Amino acid sequence: MSETRGSSGGLMGWVDERFPATKMWNEHVGQYYAPKNFNFWYYFGSLALVVLVIQILSGIWLTMNYQPSADRAFESVEYIMRDVDWGWLIRYIHTTGASAFFVVVYLHMARALLYGSYQKPRELLWVFGVLIYVSLMAEAFFGYMLPWGQMSFWGAQVIISLFGAIPVIGDQLALWIRGDYVISEITLNRFFALHVIGLPLVIIGLVVAHILALHEVGSNNPDGIEIKKNKDANGNPKDGIPFHPYYTVKDTFGLIVFLIFFSIVVFYVPEFFGLFIEAPNFEPANPQVTPDHIAPVWYFTPHYAMLRAIPDSFGGVVVMGAAVAILFFLPWLDRGRVRSIRYRGLGFKVAVILFFISFVVLGYLGLQPATGLYTILARIFTAIYFGFFVFLWVYTYFGLEKTKPVPERVTMP
Ligand code: HEM
Repeated sequence: MSETRGSSGGLMGWVDERFPATKMWNEHVGQYYAPKNFNFWYYFGSLALVVLVIQILSGIWLTMNYQPSADRAFESVEYIMRDVDWGWLIRYIHTTGASAFFVVVYLHMARALLYGSYQKPRELLWVFGVLIYVSLMAEAFFGYMLPWGQMSFWGAQVIISLFGAIPVIGDQLALWIRGDYVISEITLNRFFALHVIGLPLVIIGLVVAHILALHEVGSNNPDGIEIKKNKDANGNPKDGIPFHPYYTVKDTFGLIVFLIFFSIVVFYVPEFFGLFIEAPNFEPANPQVTPDHIAPVWYFTPHYAMLRAIPDSFGGVVVMGAAVAILFFLPWLDRGRVRSIRYRGLGFKVAVILFFISFVVLGYLGLQPATGLYTILARIFTAIYFGFFVFLWVYTYFGLEKTKPVPERVTMP
Protein backbone atom coordinates (compact mmCIF):
# COMPACT_ATOMS: atom_id res chain seq x y z
CA MET A 1 0.00 0.00 0.00
CA SER A 2 1.41 3.38 -0.92
CA GLU A 3 1.68 6.05 1.78
CA THR A 4 -1.01 8.20 0.21
CA ARG A 5 -3.67 5.51 0.57
CA GLY A 6 -6.21 5.62 3.43
CA SER A 7 -6.46 2.93 6.10
CA SER A 8 -9.17 1.17 4.10
CA GLY A 9 -6.90 1.14 1.04
CA GLY A 10 -8.18 0.77 -2.49
CA LEU A 11 -10.13 3.43 -4.32
CA MET A 12 -12.20 4.43 -1.26
CA GLY A 13 -9.01 4.92 0.75
CA TRP A 14 -7.63 7.15 -1.98
CA VAL A 15 -10.86 9.19 -2.07
CA ASP A 16 -11.12 9.40 1.75
CA GLU A 17 -7.71 11.00 2.01
CA ARG A 18 -8.90 13.74 -0.27
CA PHE A 19 -12.62 14.00 0.53
CA PRO A 20 -14.53 12.87 3.67
CA ALA A 21 -16.77 10.39 1.80
CA THR A 22 -16.69 7.50 4.31
CA LYS A 23 -16.72 9.93 7.25
CA MET A 24 -19.87 11.62 5.92
CA TRP A 25 -21.54 8.30 5.12
CA ASN A 26 -20.89 7.05 8.66
CA GLU A 27 -21.95 10.27 10.30
CA HIS A 28 -25.22 10.63 8.41
CA VAL A 29 -26.16 7.06 7.43
CA GLY A 30 -24.04 4.09 8.48
CA GLN A 31 -23.56 5.14 12.11
CA TYR A 32 -26.42 7.59 12.48
CA TYR A 33 -28.43 6.08 15.30
CA ALA A 34 -32.16 6.62 14.92
CA PRO A 35 -34.78 5.53 17.48
CA LYS A 36 -35.88 1.95 16.90
CA ASN A 37 -39.60 2.70 17.29
CA PHE A 38 -40.21 4.73 14.12
CA ASN A 39 -43.70 4.07 12.73
CA PHE A 40 -45.79 4.89 9.66
CA TRP A 41 -45.44 8.65 10.22
CA TYR A 42 -41.69 8.50 9.78
CA TYR A 43 -41.87 7.54 6.09
CA PHE A 44 -42.66 11.04 4.92
CA GLY A 45 -39.29 12.73 5.44
CA SER A 46 -37.52 10.34 3.09
CA LEU A 47 -40.50 10.46 0.72
CA ALA A 48 -40.26 14.27 0.62
CA LEU A 49 -36.65 13.85 -0.48
CA VAL A 50 -37.71 11.42 -3.19
CA VAL A 51 -40.40 13.79 -4.47
CA LEU A 52 -37.87 16.63 -4.51
CA VAL A 53 -35.62 14.55 -6.79
CA ILE A 54 -38.61 13.54 -8.99
CA GLN A 55 -39.58 17.20 -9.40
CA ILE A 56 -36.08 18.36 -10.24
CA LEU A 57 -35.51 15.62 -12.83
CA SER A 58 -38.93 15.88 -14.50
CA GLY A 59 -38.62 19.69 -14.37
CA ILE A 60 -35.27 19.66 -16.19
CA TRP A 61 -36.76 17.53 -18.96
CA LEU A 62 -39.87 19.74 -19.25
CA THR A 63 -37.67 22.82 -19.53
CA MET A 64 -36.00 21.29 -22.61
CA ASN A 65 -39.22 21.82 -24.59
CA TYR A 66 -41.13 24.53 -22.74
CA GLN A 67 -41.02 28.12 -24.00
CA PRO A 68 -41.64 30.95 -21.51
CA SER A 69 -43.28 33.44 -23.87
CA ALA A 70 -46.85 34.70 -23.85
CA ASP A 71 -47.30 33.54 -27.46
CA ARG A 72 -45.67 30.14 -27.12
CA ALA A 73 -46.06 28.93 -23.53
CA PHE A 74 -49.52 27.32 -23.83
CA GLU A 75 -48.68 25.82 -27.22
CA SER A 76 -45.35 24.49 -26.03
CA VAL A 77 -47.11 22.60 -23.22
CA GLU A 78 -49.53 21.11 -25.77
CA TYR A 79 -46.52 20.22 -27.92
CA ILE A 80 -44.92 18.44 -24.94
CA MET A 81 -48.18 16.54 -24.36
CA ARG A 82 -48.70 15.47 -27.98
CA ASP A 83 -45.43 15.50 -29.92
CA VAL A 84 -42.46 15.17 -27.59
CA ASP A 85 -41.56 11.50 -27.01
CA TRP A 86 -42.83 10.57 -23.54
CA GLY A 87 -43.60 14.27 -23.00
CA TRP A 88 -47.05 13.47 -21.60
CA LEU A 89 -45.46 11.17 -19.04
CA ILE A 90 -42.88 13.73 -17.96
CA ARG A 91 -45.54 16.39 -17.60
CA TYR A 92 -47.93 14.18 -15.65
CA ILE A 93 -45.09 13.09 -13.38
CA HIS A 94 -44.37 16.77 -12.68
CA THR A 95 -47.99 17.82 -12.09
CA THR A 96 -48.69 14.78 -9.91
CA GLY A 97 -45.36 15.33 -8.15
CA ALA A 98 -46.42 18.87 -7.19
CA SER A 99 -49.53 17.58 -5.42
CA ALA A 100 -47.67 14.59 -3.98
CA PHE A 101 -45.15 17.00 -2.49
CA PHE A 102 -47.86 18.73 -0.51
CA VAL A 103 -49.55 15.47 0.54
CA VAL A 104 -46.22 14.18 1.84
CA VAL A 105 -45.19 17.47 3.47
CA TYR A 106 -48.57 17.96 5.18
CA LEU A 107 -48.36 14.44 6.65
CA HIS A 108 -44.75 15.09 7.65
CA MET A 109 -45.79 18.28 9.47
CA ALA A 110 -48.76 16.54 11.10
CA ARG A 111 -46.34 13.96 12.52
CA ALA A 112 -44.28 16.77 14.07
CA LEU A 113 -47.44 18.02 15.80
CA LEU A 114 -48.44 14.58 17.04
CA TYR A 115 -45.05 13.81 18.55
CA GLY A 116 -43.93 17.31 19.58
CA SER A 117 -40.93 17.10 17.24
CA TYR A 118 -40.71 20.91 17.15
CA GLN A 119 -40.06 21.19 20.89
CA LYS A 120 -36.64 21.84 22.41
CA PRO A 121 -33.97 21.04 21.12
CA ARG A 122 -35.54 20.78 17.63
CA GLU A 123 -36.79 24.37 17.26
CA LEU A 124 -34.38 25.27 14.48
CA LEU A 125 -35.06 22.01 12.65
CA TRP A 126 -38.75 22.99 12.72
CA VAL A 127 -38.04 26.58 11.61
CA PHE A 128 -36.04 25.28 8.63
CA GLY A 129 -39.05 23.05 7.90
CA VAL A 130 -41.47 25.98 7.91
CA LEU A 131 -39.10 27.92 5.63
CA ILE A 132 -39.11 24.94 3.25
CA TYR A 133 -42.92 24.96 3.37
CA VAL A 134 -43.10 28.67 2.49
CA SER A 135 -40.57 28.21 -0.34
CA LEU A 136 -42.52 25.23 -1.62
CA MET A 137 -45.68 27.33 -1.75
CA ALA A 138 -43.85 30.01 -3.75
CA GLU A 139 -42.35 27.35 -6.04
CA ALA A 140 -45.79 25.83 -6.72
CA PHE A 141 -47.34 29.24 -7.33
CA PHE A 142 -44.67 30.24 -9.87
CA GLY A 143 -44.86 26.86 -11.59
CA TYR A 144 -48.62 27.02 -11.91
CA MET A 145 -48.36 30.16 -14.01
CA LEU A 146 -46.08 28.62 -16.63
CA PRO A 147 -48.67 26.72 -18.77
CA TRP A 148 -50.28 30.14 -19.36
CA GLY A 149 -53.81 28.76 -19.20
CA GLN A 150 -56.84 30.64 -17.90
CA MET A 151 -56.30 29.55 -14.30
CA SER A 152 -52.56 30.25 -14.51
CA PHE A 153 -53.30 33.79 -15.55
CA TRP A 154 -56.22 34.56 -13.28
CA GLY A 155 -54.76 32.76 -10.28
CA ALA A 156 -51.63 34.89 -10.58
CA GLN A 157 -53.85 37.95 -11.05
CA VAL A 158 -55.68 37.26 -7.77
CA ILE A 159 -52.55 36.50 -5.75
CA ILE A 160 -50.49 39.43 -7.02
CA SER A 161 -53.38 41.84 -6.51
CA LEU A 162 -53.43 40.76 -2.84
CA PHE A 163 -50.15 42.57 -2.40
CA GLY A 164 -51.93 45.64 -3.75
CA ALA A 165 -54.19 45.53 -0.67
CA ILE A 166 -51.25 46.38 1.61
CA PRO A 167 -51.63 50.05 2.67
CA VAL A 168 -49.26 52.70 1.26
CA ILE A 169 -46.74 50.46 -0.54
CA GLY A 170 -49.25 47.95 -1.96
CA ASP A 171 -49.63 49.26 -5.52
CA GLN A 172 -45.91 49.79 -6.00
CA LEU A 173 -45.19 46.35 -4.59
CA ALA A 174 -47.66 44.64 -6.95
CA LEU A 175 -46.15 46.56 -9.87
CA TRP A 176 -42.66 45.49 -8.80
CA ILE A 177 -43.70 41.83 -8.62
CA ARG A 178 -45.43 41.89 -12.03
CA GLY A 179 -42.73 44.00 -13.66
CA ASP A 180 -45.54 45.51 -15.71
CA TYR A 181 -48.91 47.23 -15.20
CA VAL A 182 -50.70 44.01 -16.02
CA ILE A 183 -49.64 40.38 -15.92
CA SER A 184 -47.62 39.95 -19.09
CA GLU A 185 -44.77 38.09 -20.68
CA ILE A 186 -42.41 40.02 -18.38
CA THR A 187 -44.16 38.45 -15.39
CA LEU A 188 -44.07 35.03 -17.06
CA ASN A 189 -40.32 35.31 -17.69
CA ARG A 190 -39.44 36.20 -14.12
CA PHE A 191 -41.73 33.50 -12.72
CA PHE A 192 -40.01 31.02 -15.04
CA ALA A 193 -36.56 32.09 -13.78
CA LEU A 194 -37.66 31.78 -10.16
CA HIS A 195 -39.40 28.45 -10.75
CA VAL A 196 -36.60 26.66 -12.59
CA ILE A 197 -33.58 27.92 -10.70
CA GLY A 198 -34.21 30.54 -7.99
CA LEU A 199 -36.48 28.64 -5.63
CA PRO A 200 -35.10 25.15 -6.33
CA LEU A 201 -31.70 26.41 -5.10
CA VAL A 202 -33.30 27.88 -1.98
CA ILE A 203 -35.25 24.67 -1.31
CA ILE A 204 -32.21 22.41 -1.77
CA GLY A 205 -30.16 24.64 0.55
CA LEU A 206 -32.90 24.58 3.18
CA VAL A 207 -33.29 20.80 2.94
CA VAL A 208 -29.55 20.38 3.57
CA ALA A 209 -29.81 22.70 6.60
CA HIS A 210 -32.92 20.79 7.77
CA ILE A 211 -31.12 17.44 7.71
CA LEU A 212 -27.93 18.82 9.26
CA ALA A 213 -30.03 20.25 12.10
CA LEU A 214 -31.82 16.91 12.48
CA HIS A 215 -28.54 15.00 12.70
CA GLU A 216 -27.11 17.50 15.18
CA VAL A 217 -29.92 16.98 17.71
CA GLY A 218 -31.02 13.47 16.66
CA SER A 219 -34.48 12.29 15.66
CA ASN A 220 -37.46 12.44 17.96
CA ASN A 221 -39.78 9.38 17.99
CA PRO A 222 -43.42 8.37 18.65
CA ASP A 223 -42.74 8.24 22.41
CA GLY A 224 -41.07 11.64 22.43
CA ILE A 225 -38.18 10.25 24.46
CA GLU A 226 -34.61 11.54 24.13
CA ILE A 227 -32.76 8.32 23.20
CA LYS A 228 -29.36 9.97 23.75
CA LYS A 229 -30.00 9.87 27.51
CA ASN A 230 -29.61 6.08 27.61
CA LYS A 231 -26.34 4.94 26.06
CA ASP A 232 -24.56 1.57 26.02
CA ALA A 233 -20.85 0.92 26.77
CA ASN A 234 -19.89 1.97 23.21
CA GLY A 235 -21.66 5.30 23.61
CA ASN A 236 -24.50 4.36 21.23
CA PRO A 237 -28.10 4.96 22.31
CA LYS A 238 -29.63 1.75 23.67
CA ASP A 239 -32.90 2.54 21.92
CA GLY A 240 -31.19 3.46 18.66
CA ILE A 241 -30.37 1.44 15.55
CA PRO A 242 -28.06 2.45 12.68
CA PHE A 243 -29.94 4.19 9.91
CA HIS A 244 -28.35 1.81 7.43
CA PRO A 245 -29.41 -0.96 6.91
CA TYR A 246 -32.48 -0.73 9.19
CA TYR A 247 -34.13 2.44 7.97
CA THR A 248 -32.81 2.30 4.41
CA VAL A 249 -34.74 -0.99 4.13
CA LYS A 250 -37.84 0.39 5.87
CA ASP A 251 -37.80 3.55 3.71
CA THR A 252 -37.39 1.43 0.55
CA PHE A 253 -40.62 -0.35 1.46
CA GLY A 254 -42.32 3.05 1.93
CA LEU A 255 -40.92 4.20 -1.39
CA ILE A 256 -42.36 1.19 -3.24
CA VAL A 257 -45.83 1.69 -1.75
CA PHE A 258 -45.62 5.41 -2.54
CA LEU A 259 -44.58 4.73 -6.16
CA ILE A 260 -47.54 2.37 -6.61
CA PHE A 261 -49.98 5.13 -5.59
CA PHE A 262 -48.04 7.72 -7.57
CA SER A 263 -48.13 5.58 -10.73
CA ILE A 264 -51.86 4.91 -10.40
CA VAL A 265 -52.46 8.66 -10.40
CA VAL A 266 -49.99 9.39 -13.23
CA PHE A 267 -51.35 6.66 -15.51
CA TYR A 268 -55.07 6.58 -14.67
CA VAL A 269 -56.20 9.86 -13.07
CA PRO A 270 -53.53 12.51 -13.79
CA GLU A 271 -56.00 15.40 -13.56
CA PHE A 272 -57.29 13.89 -10.33
CA PHE A 273 -60.90 14.98 -10.83
CA GLY A 274 -59.87 18.54 -11.60
CA LEU A 275 -57.90 18.90 -8.36
CA PHE A 276 -54.36 18.41 -9.71
CA ILE A 277 -54.98 20.02 -13.11
CA GLU A 278 -57.99 22.35 -13.17
CA ALA A 279 -60.38 22.42 -16.14
CA PRO A 280 -59.98 26.14 -17.01
CA ASN A 281 -56.27 25.55 -17.52
CA PHE A 282 -57.02 23.67 -20.72
CA GLU A 283 -57.92 27.05 -22.22
CA PRO A 284 -55.19 29.54 -23.18
CA ALA A 285 -54.84 32.62 -20.95
CA ASN A 286 -57.25 35.35 -21.99
CA PRO A 287 -56.92 38.69 -20.17
CA GLN A 288 -60.38 39.72 -21.49
CA VAL A 289 -62.37 36.81 -20.02
CA THR A 290 -62.42 35.97 -16.31
CA PRO A 291 -63.21 32.30 -15.54
CA ASP A 292 -66.53 31.79 -13.71
CA HIS A 293 -64.90 30.42 -10.65
CA ILE A 294 -61.29 31.11 -9.67
CA ALA A 295 -59.87 28.67 -7.13
CA PRO A 296 -56.26 27.77 -6.45
CA VAL A 297 -54.95 24.20 -6.52
CA TRP A 298 -56.15 22.12 -3.53
CA TYR A 299 -53.04 22.61 -1.40
CA PHE A 300 -53.69 26.35 -1.18
CA THR A 301 -57.42 26.16 -0.59
CA PRO A 302 -57.28 26.26 3.25
CA HIS A 303 -55.43 29.58 3.02
CA TYR A 304 -57.71 30.81 0.27
CA ALA A 305 -60.76 30.06 2.44
CA MET A 306 -59.25 32.11 5.28
CA LEU A 307 -58.49 34.96 2.90
CA ARG A 308 -62.10 35.11 1.72
CA ALA A 309 -63.55 34.62 5.20
CA ILE A 310 -62.53 38.17 6.15
CA PRO A 311 -64.64 40.90 4.54
CA ASP A 312 -61.82 43.47 4.38
CA SER A 313 -59.27 42.50 1.70
CA PHE A 314 -56.22 43.69 3.65
CA GLY A 315 -57.54 41.93 6.76
CA GLY A 316 -57.87 38.76 4.69
CA VAL A 317 -54.28 39.02 3.52
CA VAL A 318 -53.10 39.50 7.12
CA VAL A 319 -55.08 36.48 8.36
CA MET A 320 -53.86 34.31 5.51
CA GLY A 321 -50.24 35.33 6.10
CA ALA A 322 -50.63 34.85 9.85
CA ALA A 323 -51.95 31.30 9.32
CA VAL A 324 -48.54 30.36 7.91
CA ALA A 325 -46.39 32.72 10.00
CA ILE A 326 -47.78 31.41 13.29
CA LEU A 327 -46.19 28.03 12.53
CA PHE A 328 -42.74 29.59 13.07
CA PHE A 329 -43.66 30.32 16.70
CA LEU A 330 -45.07 26.92 17.56
CA PRO A 331 -41.98 25.72 19.51
CA TRP A 332 -42.32 28.72 21.81
CA LEU A 333 -46.11 28.69 22.09
CA ASP A 334 -46.16 25.09 23.28
CA ARG A 335 -44.52 24.88 26.70
CA GLY A 336 -45.76 21.36 27.35
CA ARG A 337 -43.52 19.14 29.48
CA VAL A 338 -44.04 16.02 27.38
CA ARG A 339 -43.70 15.76 23.62
CA SER A 340 -45.73 12.86 22.34
CA ILE A 341 -49.52 12.89 22.07
CA ARG A 342 -49.37 9.44 23.73
CA TYR A 343 -48.60 11.05 27.08
CA ARG A 344 -50.19 14.47 26.66
CA GLY A 345 -53.36 15.73 28.33
CA LEU A 346 -56.85 15.29 26.91
CA GLY A 347 -57.01 19.01 26.11
CA PHE A 348 -54.09 18.70 23.70
CA LYS A 349 -55.56 15.62 22.05
CA VAL A 350 -58.91 17.30 21.42
CA ALA A 351 -57.27 20.55 20.29
CA VAL A 352 -54.90 18.93 17.80
CA ILE A 353 -57.70 16.83 16.27
CA LEU A 354 -59.87 19.93 15.92
CA PHE A 355 -56.92 21.70 14.33
CA PHE A 356 -56.51 18.97 11.71
CA ILE A 357 -60.27 18.97 11.05
CA SER A 358 -60.29 22.77 10.67
CA PHE A 359 -57.50 22.58 8.07
CA VAL A 360 -59.29 19.92 6.01
CA VAL A 361 -62.67 21.68 6.20
CA LEU A 362 -61.08 25.00 5.23
CA GLY A 363 -59.48 23.18 2.30
CA TYR A 364 -62.93 22.06 1.19
CA LEU A 365 -64.45 25.52 1.70
CA GLY A 366 -61.68 27.11 -0.38
CA LEU A 367 -62.95 25.10 -3.36
CA GLN A 368 -66.54 26.35 -2.91
CA PRO A 369 -67.93 29.78 -3.82
CA ALA A 370 -67.57 32.31 -0.99
CA THR A 371 -71.28 32.72 -0.35
CA GLY A 372 -73.75 32.44 2.55
CA LEU A 373 -73.21 29.39 4.70
CA TYR A 374 -69.79 28.67 3.22
CA THR A 375 -68.48 32.04 4.40
CA ILE A 376 -69.92 31.55 7.89
CA LEU A 377 -68.33 28.11 8.12
CA ALA A 378 -65.01 29.51 6.84
CA ARG A 379 -65.08 32.08 9.67
CA ILE A 380 -65.84 29.44 12.31
CA PHE A 381 -63.06 27.13 11.12
CA THR A 382 -60.57 29.99 10.76
CA ALA A 383 -61.28 30.76 14.42
CA ILE A 384 -60.70 27.09 15.33
CA TYR A 385 -57.43 27.08 13.36
CA PHE A 386 -56.03 30.06 15.27
CA GLY A 387 -57.77 28.94 18.46
CA PHE A 388 -55.48 25.90 18.52
CA PHE A 389 -52.38 28.06 18.97
CA VAL A 390 -54.00 30.30 21.61
CA PHE A 391 -55.32 27.29 23.50
CA LEU A 392 -51.94 25.53 23.37
CA TRP A 393 -50.19 28.52 24.86
CA VAL A 394 -52.73 29.07 27.65
CA TYR A 395 -52.95 25.34 28.38
CA THR A 396 -49.22 24.83 28.72
CA TYR A 397 -48.15 28.25 30.06
CA PHE A 398 -50.53 28.09 33.01
CA GLY A 399 -49.75 24.43 33.68
CA LEU A 400 -53.31 23.23 33.00
CA GLU A 401 -52.18 20.09 31.19
CA LYS A 402 -52.42 16.76 33.05
CA THR A 403 -49.82 14.56 31.40
CA LYS A 404 -49.27 10.81 31.73
CA PRO A 405 -45.92 9.45 32.97
CA VAL A 406 -43.43 9.06 30.12
CA PRO A 407 -41.56 5.69 30.12
CA GLU A 408 -37.77 5.59 30.53
CA ARG A 409 -37.24 3.60 27.34
CA VAL A 410 -39.07 3.63 24.01
CA THR A 411 -42.05 1.29 23.64
CA MET A 412 -42.44 -1.06 20.72
CA PRO A 413 -45.81 -1.92 19.17
C1 HEM B 1 -38.75 19.27 0.93
C2 HEM B 1 -39.36 19.13 2.10
C3 HEM B 1 -38.80 18.35 3.26
C4 HEM B 1 -37.87 17.35 3.26
C5 HEM B 1 -37.14 16.73 2.08
C6 HEM B 1 -37.71 16.93 4.65
C7 HEM B 1 -36.87 15.91 5.06
C8 HEM B 1 -36.85 15.38 6.33
C9 HEM B 1 -36.21 14.13 6.70
C10 HEM B 1 -35.48 13.19 5.73
C11 HEM B 1 -36.42 13.96 8.03
C12 HEM B 1 -35.99 12.73 8.85
C13 HEM B 1 -36.98 11.59 8.63
C14 HEM B 1 -38.32 11.85 9.27
O1 HEM B 1 -38.33 12.27 10.42
O2 HEM B 1 -39.37 11.63 8.60
C15 HEM B 1 -37.13 15.11 8.53
C16 HEM B 1 -37.50 15.32 9.86
C17 HEM B 1 -38.23 16.41 10.33
N1 HEM B 1 -38.84 17.38 9.53
FE1 HEM B 1 -38.68 17.53 7.52
N2 HEM B 1 -38.53 17.69 5.45
C18 HEM B 1 -39.21 18.57 4.65
C19 HEM B 1 -40.15 19.50 5.05
C20 HEM B 1 -40.49 19.75 6.39
C21 HEM B 1 -41.47 20.71 6.82
C22 HEM B 1 -42.28 21.59 5.87
C23 HEM B 1 -41.49 20.68 8.20
C24 HEM B 1 -42.31 21.48 9.17
C25 HEM B 1 -42.82 22.62 8.94
C26 HEM B 1 -40.55 19.67 8.63
C27 HEM B 1 -40.28 19.33 9.97
C28 HEM B 1 -39.52 18.25 10.37
C29 HEM B 1 -39.30 17.84 11.75
C30 HEM B 1 -39.85 18.55 13.00
C31 HEM B 1 -38.51 16.69 11.72
C32 HEM B 1 -38.03 15.85 12.92
C33 HEM B 1 -39.05 14.79 13.16
C34 HEM B 1 -38.74 13.86 14.29
O3 HEM B 1 -37.55 13.61 14.55
O4 HEM B 1 -39.72 13.40 14.93
N3 HEM B 1 -39.97 19.13 7.51
N4 HEM B 1 -37.40 15.95 7.48
